[in-house]
Amino acid sequence: MTTLRLRPEDPADTGAVRRVLAAAFARPDVATPPEVRLVDELRGGDAWVPELAMVAEYGGEIVGYALLTRVVVCSDRGSGAALALGPVAVVPHRQRIGLGSAVVQAALDAAAELGERLIVVLGDPAYYRRFGFSRADRMGLTSPWSGLGEPWQAIVLPPSTSGEPAPPQGEVLFPPPWSKV
Ligand SMILES: CC(C)(COP(=O)(O)OP(=O)(O)OC[C@H]1O[C@@H](n2cnc3c(N)ncnc32)[C@H](O)[C@@H]1OP(=O)(O)O)[C@@H](O)C(=O)NCCC(=O)NCCS
Repeated sequence: MTTLRLRPEDPADTGAVRRVLAAAFARPDVATPPEVRLVDELRGGDAWVPELAMVAEYGGEIVGYALLTRVVVCSDRGSGAALALGPVAVVPHRQRIGLGSAVVQAALDAAAELGERLIVVLGDPAYYRRFGFSRADRMGLTSPWSGLGEPWQAIVLPPSTSGEPAPPQGEVLFPPPWSKV
């Protein structure tokens, strides 16, 4: 049986992660998909949470990736912390066997363990609803993409202790690398 290992990336994985992103997001019109640069620019920046850059190692080879990085939610009442999910990628020849779901779920579980409460994503609702994401605009969250409606999604993770305040609402601010995708 082929072994699946889900774990945070380490510095030696950078090249393999780039190759996964380049293969998953390959387009005939660009040499390097923007998702590769996005991850390179986020890595090592303030938004980076090392425990939440998750790789899927299948048969000893890195074939999948799910990244959660820091975003800030601002409102009249102040600012709060949240995470953004993405990019999510699985190399084409390993898609449709559950690796994408496994690596996303591993990232969400790791975030819950760190006490994180709110995660946003921009993507196909048909894919992300299986993890519990739903429309973020209906949770009081806006972003440059909220006008898109359904693809702008969020999930609230369960509180680790009772009496924890509700997750923040307001405008979700993404760090500069996101403006290039
Ligand atoms: C999206 C992606 C990560 C899914 O990885 P995967 O390992 O194939 O996913 P899983 O095997 O866990 O799940 C497959 C399921 O997801 C669905 N799915 C895959 N990509 C999808 C997409 N873009 N939109 C909607 N559903 C999608 C499949 O139809 C399948 O559904 P089923 O379980 O009902 O049959 C992978 O297809 C990929 O890397 N795509 C290119 C990059 C990309 O678009 N990333 C997402 C950016 S928002």
